[in-house]
Amino acid sequence: MEDAPRKNELIEVNGVLFSYKDIFSVINDFYGRIQTDPILQAPFKSVEDWPEHIKNITHFWWVKFGGRAYMFSQYNPVPKHFFAGFNRDLLSRWLFIFHQTLNTHLTQEQVALWTLISTRMGEGLVIKNDHYKLMYESKNGSG
Ligand code: HEM
Repeated sequence: MEDAPRKNELIEVNGVLFSYKDIFSVINDFYGRIQTDPILQAPFKSVEDWPEHIKNITHFWWVKFGGRAYMFSQYNPVPKHFFAGFNRDLLSRWLFIFHQTLNTHLTQEQVALWTLISTRMGEGLVIKNDHYKLMYESKNGSG
């Protein structure tokens, strides 16, 4: 597989530019905040290797924004989130901290776009999580 992009490599999303460093700085800071958050540190206990998680999620967003894949990765977020106890309240907290982190690192234009995208993805995850829950309970019983 290829090397990670250079720090100053740019990606354009809806006319808004992001450097690789912008994405890495946000993700690195965000998961630092998560690890000390009184609400979110518990559901994130499954993460054993934080530097590895940060690398994975940086890659996830880089590729989501249209960048070339540079790691072997196969994301399977719906079961992971379900078994981590994902729900609307945890998502609200996640988004609140994420948006605060965006504001620390990025321009208003970048913040507005990434806020929109992450909010939409969160809504998508709620729907997929509800569906996964239904399927899981019909197979395993709800009690
Ligand atoms: C818009 C909101 C969110 C996005 C875009 C997002 C994105 C992701 C992605 C891409 C992964 C990697 C999945 C994989 O490796 O297959 C992941 C893992 C994970 N997420 Fe989220 N997530 C969000 C919200 C949350 C929330 C609210 C929680 C709290 C329960 C959460 C907890 C986790 C956990 C525990 C993992 C698994 C880490 C591991 O052990 O590998 N996420 N997330």
